[in-house]
Amino acid sequence: SQYRIALVVGSLRRESINRKLAIALTKLAPSDFTFHHCEIGDLPLYNQDDDDHQAAPVKRLKQEVSSADGLLFVTPEYNRSVPGVLKNAIDHASRPYGKSAWAGKPAGVIGASIGAAGTAMSQQHLRNILAYLDAPTMGQPEAFIHVKEGFFDADGNVAEGSRDFVQKWMDRFAEWVRTHAGKHAG
Ligand code: FNR
Repeated sequence: SQYRIALVVGSLRRESINRKLAIALTKLAPSDFTFHHCEIGDLPLYNQDDDDHQAAPVKRLKQEVSSADGLLFVTPEYNRSVPGVLKNAIDHASRPYGKSAWAGKPAGVIGASIGAAGTAMSQQHLRNILAYLDAPTMGQPEAFIHVKEGFFDADGNVAEGSRDFVQKWMDRFAEWVRTHAGKHAG
């Protein structure tokens, strides 16, 4: 069978290194994995008043997450936490109360930074959120990607020096999804 992964990138920037990493990761996935990039840039700011009439982009996101077998978050670190645009998307799809789309979805968390800490603190904050949302999140291996000159090759693939590490991360993520997909009673 096929495994459908909802891919959520925490940056809206055109030249985002996290989107670049996300695309490179999808190319390292097993052939029975497909990835759907969830657009989060057109979501309104979350407002609880709208819970019983969610906007079309919110319904779309919830549908994309609900129909997925797993979640892949690739996010920058903003001021030692997750970007607001990512938290906004997570909050939207967690509502209305009792109708969260995230529950039970096996998740992987990874991120890229131009700084040496490699999104470690952003990822820890994201793990905290996902724990509350009952999305079983792969604990190891962790991957705090410090993007320096030459991390990506000319085709946008992870260059030789880091490719094995990133491939092993993807292999373990795929195993995580296979093990935990479809287990949630709802
Ligand atoms: C950053 N950046 C950053 N980097 C980091 O390692 N830790 C941090 O806390 C922050 N904080 C931060 C705040 C804001 C508002 C911005 C715009 C940037 C730098 C960040 O790693 C860099 O801009 C990345 O290129 C962002 O990821 P994308 O957009 O390229 O995917």
